[in-house]
Amino acid sequence: MAFKDQVDLIITSPPYADARHKHYDSIHPDKFAEWFLTFHEPFYNALKPTGSLVINIKDKVVDGVRHRYVWKTIEALGEAGWYSIEDYLWYKPNPMPGYWPNRLRDGWEYCFHLAKTKRPYFNQDGVRKPIGEWVESRLKNLGKNDLSRHNSANESGFGRDISKWVGKQTVLPSNVLTIPLVGKNKGHPAVFPVDLPLFFIKLLCPENGLVVDPFAGSGTTGIAALSLGRSCVLIDNNIKYCEEAVKRVQEEAAATTNEVKFEQHVIPYQLRFLQDAKSEK
Ligand SMILES: C[S@@+](CC[C@H](N)C(=O)[O-])C[C@H]1O[C@@H](n2cnc3c(N)ncnc32)[C@H](O)[C@@H]1O
Repeated sequence: MAFKDQVDLIITSPPYADARHKHYDSIHPDKFAEWFLTFHEPFYNALKPTGSLVINIKDKVVDGVRHRYVWKTIEALGEAGWYSIEDYLWYKPNPMPGYWPNRLRDGWEYCFHLAKTKRPYFNQDGVRKPIGEWVESRLKNLGKNDLSRHNSANESGFGRDISKWVGKQTVLPSNVLTIPLVGKNKGHPAVFPVDLPLFFIKLLCPENGLVVDPFAGSGTTGIAALSLGRSCVLIDNNIKYCEEAVKRVQEEAAATTNEVKFEQHVIPYQLRFLQDAKSEK
C-alpha cells in the first residue's frame, strides 16, 4: 500500500479460510495467520499513528470443530506490534437457517479493533444512539437506591447511578452491534451490511479522513465512507467485484464518475503465495 502514514481507518472483511472456493481464492485455515501477516507491514505503514484496523471475521468450522485460525491471527498481529483495543461482536438477529448436529444457528461475528497506539482516534459521540423508551419509563420511577451510586445486592462490586441518565437524549452504545444480515443480489456472495462499516467509520475516522478496505468485494465500505463524507480506497483482486463496487458506489452513494477513479495493478507476491498454498493441498 503506497499511502505511508495517510490512512485513518482500514476496515475489512478478509476472505474466510477455505470458505468460498467457488467464488474466490481462499486460504487453508492452517495457513491463514501466516497469509494475513503478509499484509501486516503494508497496513501498518499506511496507517497514521492515530489510525485503526478493524477486521470482521469468524472462525470456520473444520470437521465439526471450530478452527482457531482467527485467534491465532489476532495473536500474531499482537506479536507484530498491533494493540488489541477492543473485540466487538456483530450480532445478527436474522442468522442463516440450518441444522447442525453439534451447534446452533450462527448469530454473530467478531470485529477486532486493532491500532498502532493505545490511544487511536476515537469519537464516542459519533456513535451515540437515542436513549431507549425503557430508560424513560425506568427514570420516571427512580427509587432511593437510584439517586446515588448503588452497590449491587450480591456485593459483586458493580454499582450503578441511574439518576445520571435523567435529561439525557442519547447514550453510548455497547460493543455488541445489532445489525441484520442483508439480502443477496449485491453481485457478491459475502456482502456485509452498510451499517457495519458505517458504525466504525463514525467511531474511528475523523471527518474528511481516509478509509481503506483492502478486501473490498462489492464495495460496501465505499458506500458507507462516501455517504459520511470520507474518502475511500477499495482494493480487491477480482476484477468482477471491482466493477460491481464501482457500480454500487455510484448507485447507492450517488458518487459521480468524476469522483470514482478505477485502477488495475498486479501484486505478484500475493498471487505467488496463493498458488503455493493451493499446490500444498
Ligand atoms: C469477504 S469478501 C468482502 C466482502 C465485502 N465486505 C462486501 O461487503 O462486499 C472478501 C474479498 O476479498 C477478496 N480477496 C481475496 N484475496 C484477496 C487478495 N489477496 N487481495 C485482495 N482481495 C482479495 C475476494 O475477492 C473477496 O471479494
